[in-house]
Amino acid sequence: MTAVDPALEAQLEATREARLESYLEFLRIPSISALPEHAGDMRRAAEWIAAELSRIGFEHAEVCATPWHPIVYADWLHAEGAPTVIVYCHYDVQPVDPIELWDTAPFDPFVRDGRMIGRGAADDKGQLHMHLRAAEALFATRGRLPLNLRIVFEGEEESTSVSLPGWLEANRARLGADAVLISDSGFFEGNLPAITQSLRGIMYAQIDVFGPPADLHSGQYGGAVQNPANALAWILAALKSPDGVVRIPGFYEDVVELSPADRERLAALPFDDETFRARVDVPALAGEPGYSVVERTGARPTLDVNGIWGGFQGTGSKTIIPAHAHAKVSSRLVRAQDPNRIYEALRAFVLEQAPPGVRVEVTSLGSGRPVVTPIDHPLTLAAAAAIETTFGRAPLYIREGGSIPVAEMFERQLGLPVVLAGFTNPDDNAHAPNESMVMANYETGIRTICLLWDMLGEHGLQGAASA
Ligand code: BES
Ligand code: MN
Ligand code: MN
Repeated sequence: MTAVDPALEAQLEATREARLESYLEFLRIPSISALPEHAGDMRRAAEWIAAELSRIGFEHAEVCATPWHPIVYADWLHAEGAPTVIVYCHYDVQPVDPIELWDTAPFDPFVRDGRMIGRGAADDKGQLHMHLRAAEALFATRGRLPLNLRIVFEGEEESTSVSLPGWLEANRARLGADAVLISDSGFFEGNLPAITQSLRGIMYAQIDVFGPPADLHSGQYGGAVQNPANALAWILAALKSPDGVVRIPGFYEDVVELSPADRERLAALPFDDETFRARVDVPALAGEPGYSVVERTGARPTLDVNGIWGGFQGTGSKTIIPAHAHAKVSSRLVRAQDPNRIYEALRAFVLEQAPPGVRVEVTSLGSGRPVVTPIDHPLTLAAAAAIETTFGRAPLYIREGGSIPVAEMFERQLGLPVVLAGFTNPDDNAHAPNESMVMANYETGIRTICLLWDMLGEHGLQGAASA
């Protein structure tokens, strides 16, 4: 097995402090894709990345305009005979609320107890930064890369990648490659090295229930006027049974059941329900009967209310029938559920459940398809070997419950095999207050990326598997 090149290690050792400074600088840009007031920060982040890519040694670095947030592209294609890999990460982050639960300002990152703390430290600016620094180490020590890379860094991943399908279509010509590496996932419970074998898809919708044009006195009108908040509660309750089985007709129709071999592999993962329950700090775990927790979170579809509001929210009491009530609802989907079909089924069911006397609207807020990646692809095997060498432990193959819409797009639109290898820890508070990245994962992960590129350069994609 190949070890990390000593010259690279020396370069990385000598640049540790500069790397940390650069990581901090990148995290200070509040690149929240969902909020219109951060559009300028999104552009600033894209420009920061493009400038870094050029400075490091990449060519054709470009901040590509899209209908919404820019995509950053760059390439370096001078490793003749070596494979070409597309690297995908995203530079947008989730909003920071509830802000009061952060120990410090989300965009004023700092290192504490071996972790970088700040919004995007892990998801996914930290991992994007690891790829920048790995490529920089290679360019700096050798003036070249061992293989051909095309960089695609997106700015709408946290907002369902609306511009990406069009951009991929329009840029087919410069997206020729042998495979795609997506670094936007991570390790297993307990920070055990892992490669993600599948991701769930997503269907996201909003339900709006309208009653009278304005709030009414609930004493004068209560009993004779349908209450939109009650109606919404009725609708939401109908969607799912208390044990987690979704009641939308046809919801499970296209689900590919896990094979006995799949179930065996998942059962063999070192997962402990009680440790997991204690970590997420809930009184008890819940979910679909007949499936393990690992199956429920990684390989079964779900439906969750993500937000619910309407009527009086202040202190004390106010006796009204609210004029309207609202909910955001999403489903995580597995192969071969089609998000559009699931949306239509949800919509039809919601409208059918709506009691008389209110007007109900259902609106789609985006979607992404599930993906299952090949665990025997040479890039997967090479990534596994690189992880084992650098982290000292062979990666587990896991099924992730989260979604990365682009994964399926690369496969379906461009016909490219996708490998999901990243370095975050399940307890890093992604999307939550005090998001963090384990600095050891960050540092070792940079070595893993360098080693992976070296292995592919040396042995090619086919040879990498046996290296
Ligand atoms: N990096 C995550 C996806 C992920 C989560 C992968 C956990 C592996 C483990 C990604 O940034 C994300 O949060 N995706 C959203 C997609 C949605 C906004 C379309 C998600 O899963 O909610
Ligand atoms: Mn992410
Ligand atoms: Mn995310």
